[in-house]
Amino acid sequence: MALIPNSVVRQISETANDNIVSIVGDYVKLLRRGSNYMGCCPFHNEKTPSFSVNPSKGFFHCFGCGKSGSAVSFIMEIEKLSFPDSLRLLGNRLGISVPEEELTPAEDAAQRRRDALYASLEYASRLFEANITQDDEGQAYGMTYWRSRGFRDDIIAKFRLGYAVAKGDQLLTKAQADGYAVDVLVEAGLVGENKSNNTFYDYFRGRVIFPIQSTSGKILGFGGRVLDAATKGVSIKYLNTPETPIYNKRETLYGIYQARAEISRVDKCFLVEGYTDVIAMHQCGIGNVVASTGTSLTEEQIRLIKRFTRNVTILYDGDKAGVHASLRAIDMILHEEMNVRLLLLPDDDDPDSFSRKHTTEEFQAYVAEHEVDFLEYERRALLDGAGNDPLKKAQAVHTLVASIAQIGDALTREVYVKQCAEMMGIDIKTVFDALGKQLVNNATRQRDLDVAEQRRQAYAEQRATQQAAQQQQPVRQSLPPDLPPDLSPQGLAQLGYSPAPNQEPAPQPQPAAQPQQQDIEMREVMRFFVTYAQSKMEQTEGQPTVAQYIIESLDADQIQTPDPTFNKILDEYRNAADPTAIDERHFINMADEDVVRFVASAISRPQLSRIHSRYTDIKREEEQLDYLVPRAVDELRMKVIIRMLDDAYLNLQTATTDEQAAAIMEQIANLTKVKKSFSMERLGERAICR
Ligand code: CTP
Ligand code: MN
Repeated sequence: MALIPNSVVRQISETANDNIVSIVGDYVKLLRRGSNYMGCCPFHNEKTPSFSVNPSKGFFHCFGCGKSGSAVSFIMEIEKLSFPDSLRLLGNRLGISVPEEELTPAEDAAQRRRDALYASLEYASRLFEANITQDDEGQAYGMTYWRSRGFRDDIIAKFRLGYAVAKGDQLLTKAQADGYAVDVLVEAGLVGENKSNNTFYDYFRGRVIFPIQSTSGKILGFGGRVLDAATKGVSIKYLNTPETPIYNKRETLYGIYQARAEISRVDKCFLVEGYTDVIAMHQCGIGNVVASTGTSLTEEQIRLIKRFTRNVTILYDGDKAGVHASLRAIDMILHEEMNVRLLLLPDDDDPDSFSRKHTTEEFQAYVAEHEVDFLEYERRALLDGAGNDPLKKAQAVHTLVASIAQIGDALTREVYVKQCAEMMGIDIKTVFDALGKQLVNNATRQRDLDVAEQRRQAYAEQRATQQAAQQQQPVRQSLPPDLPPDLSPQGLAQLGYSPAPNQEPAPQPQPAAQPQQQDIEMREVMRFFVTYAQSKMEQTEGQPTVAQYIIESLDADQIQTPDPTFNKILDEYRNAADPTAIDERHFINMADEDVVRFVASAISRPQLSRIHSRYTDIKREEEQLDYLVPRAVDELRMKVIIRMLDDAYLNLQTATTDEQAAAIMEQIANLTKVKKSFSMERLGERAICR
């Protein structure tokens, strides 16, 4: 284990604490509040800042989750590093050298290797930069190119723009002369190997160079652009550093180093496609801008932005690829619980060309006037020029709803549902139904598969237990005559329907463990419960609501479900200060994922269309609740009884004493009686349908 001398530990800790605002500021957007700085805590999820940094005392504290500590402990926590590794990272950032002699040989080798890769990248960048002022070819082609694009010298310097000469070994030769090993240059993506004759060549040749920097400014790789405005022949317009141990395209945003302070300051980030868009916007005075370099934005890139702001405005090109990429980016950004807006530029303009034509004030005024939220963007992208094509409109609604479904917060979703309904001129219920379906599609598919698999296994186990029991004991047949109907709480308990607490349980033989099944029947009752909670059973005075009817029926028969989701819904109603205010909207806004998922699936049940019901005499569901709800409750009762009966017969087979057997037979008789007492006309009709 490597040991860092105490004097160095103290030096790094103290210097880090002195610079705690800038160290924490690499990860958290901080705003000054008096003598402290405040931001959203990176260690727990929050929307209002409760994380504070005290620069004079050199520590941080979160009033939300209680975490606090020094600059070093912050790095340990956020980078998930050990104490010595955190010190090394800080030493590196603060320019304090940590003695390496005491590293283990393996640590030492890995560390040196990374340092060497970073150093070679920095070396290359300096060479490319120097070329545009000091090399003849670099001046004639490189600098000329940058000037011709209208980039000012201060901007060229700020982005460390450069030029790689056409001759294929400038970097290779110089770097080797300065002590860089060829294999390091190859691993850093700076030099390629010609395997056929075992020679090496510069990866970037005859291209202008955009260095790609990390959040803290380290060079990670490069983008090299051909000089010609048009890409002629076989040359690729942009050549980028391949994936290396240092450069991972998915995790990199071009311009983040130059933009991060401004993104924090204005609490917003513009997202563009390309290198030149970023640079041109900076030159125009818009500094809070980064590029995904190309159009396929990644989750990692979004998370990187999220460290500085939750507000993103997409400014992709208006061509087909740009629109497609925007639609994809919208859903990804919403999924990260961030806000996304979009800016459409005038036809034929990209951020680069637009920036060159306008002043900062004009740019900002354009943003203020033309920035739209994602719904409006999607509507325009999908429907502008589509006339009144109903099919296109339906597809557009689907896209809008798919985006809304990415939003985690139910209240925010509801706001957008309303907006979507208004914007598209459709009924809000229709949008809610579509949203419900989408939420289910997104979330339940995998879960349903899991549940089905669990259930299948539970049944298989139950079957095996039953068969084993049947082989051991002959079935006793005789049943006593009629006894008064009674739903025994013990039987309910054995089926997973727990008895009301005040019932005294009688001694019972234990049945085989029951799988905690979610009955189709209970599900159906709960579907009516959440969908029509406040509807009257019949359209006459004094009738109970559907919710009242169901609650009373379940209570009367002591039917309780083992399903926690259903219990949360029932409790929400039972415990409400005003149960008459509890409707489907209330349920879907509950802060429980499973509840929301169930309610969404319940309310999205396909309904007969109005057209269909107009031309036939088929009634819609809400017109026959007085019949459908009692039927659903009866079927649930019936299911409970049948399962209790099944269980009782099973118990009978394993009863060990005559008293036990007699008690069970009595129970069977009771249940049989109750079962008969149900109107078979009512249930028989349903049997025909199946
Ligand atoms: N890109 C790339 N490789 C390519 C083409 C594009 O990596 N072969 C990335 C670059 O980051 C580029 C961005 O996609 O900046 C956008 O591409 P494009 O619009 O073609 O380039 P511009 O940045 O507009 O460059 P220019 O204005 O110089 O044509
Ligand atoms: Mn472009």
